[in-house]
Amino acid sequence: MRLLKSLEELRAWHRQQQGTLGLVPTMGNLHEGHLKLVDLAQQHADQVIVSIFVNPMQFGANEDLDSYPRTLDADCQALAERGVQAVFAPQVTDVYPRGLEAQTSIEVPKIGDILCGASRPGHFRGVATVVAKLFNMVQPDHAVFGEKDYQQLQVIRLMAQDLSFPVEIIGMPTERAADGLALSSRNGYLSASERRLAPILYQVLQNVAHAIQHDKIDAEQALAEARIALQESGFRMDYLELRRQADLQPANATDKDLVVLVAAFLGRTRLIDNLQFSRD
Ligand code: PAJ
Repeated sequence: MRLLKSLEELRAWHRQQQGTLGLVPTMGNLHEGHLKLVDLAQQHADQVIVSIFVNPMQFGANEDLDSYPRTLDADCQALAERGVQAVFAPQVTDVYPRGLEAQTSIEVPKIGDILCGASRPGHFRGVATVVAKLFNMVQPDHAVFGEKDYQQLQVIRLMAQDLSFPVEIIGMPTERAADGLALSSRNGYLSASERRLAPILYQVLQNVAHAIQHDKIDAEQALAEARIALQESGFRMDYLELRRQADLQPANATDKDLVVLVAAFLGRTRLIDNLQFSRD
């Protein structure tokens, strides 16, 4: 496996490659969820490259950019064992040579401003911009993203469509711990007692989806009760919403493909999760 630390090294490697190329963009500190994206990329492409870049443009001023876990050696070892051809781990100056303030950026209107985009202003501008740059730098045929970050996946799908990127966007279902908690690099921030509470997030999503799918109660009532249940369990709510899958706008009675999305804090750690379902 090659470790490519600059754009020059990436370009030299790229010139020698044959066959189709699959990209898995990450910020590192890899867990089994990331590695499942790699497995899926390998099913679609001859060669797989994983990018590892903690993207400063998608972090807010008071967020965890400095403390975000950086574990490049362990990540490379796990990826080599998985049979990946290359890791692209550029420096910030390689990706943003003129600095963040001067950087041309990509906005994905409407979907980028709601839910996590409302709580984290500028976050999806940072994500869309770095993913567009990665597509231009790596020039993959396929790129794999997790449904764990469902809004991010849909933002990237719309961005790729709007800007005519010749890249197939592939979504991968969320990888969970045995107790249902979605795997995330940020789970490492949880204390032992917070970690014990964290699976409630997914249980609540399942209860809400079940109630709505089987028309047990009105959707707004199910959501209101679930918000109270989360607060009483010790979560601080950011949002819990029912949306339609394609553009994440509020679901009306005729929308069939739905997703419940949640963001909530346990202590200082912000956790997100979602559950997709259909109703007839
Ligand atoms: P990061 O949080 O490192 O996640 C990298 C990819 O792994 C994303 O597509 C994310 O959705 C996926 N992922 C994370 N946890 C997962 C899980 N439990 N199951 C399935 N997939 C999971 O998301 C980012 O980085 C960044 O925003 C990035 C897209 C790299 C742009 O900087």
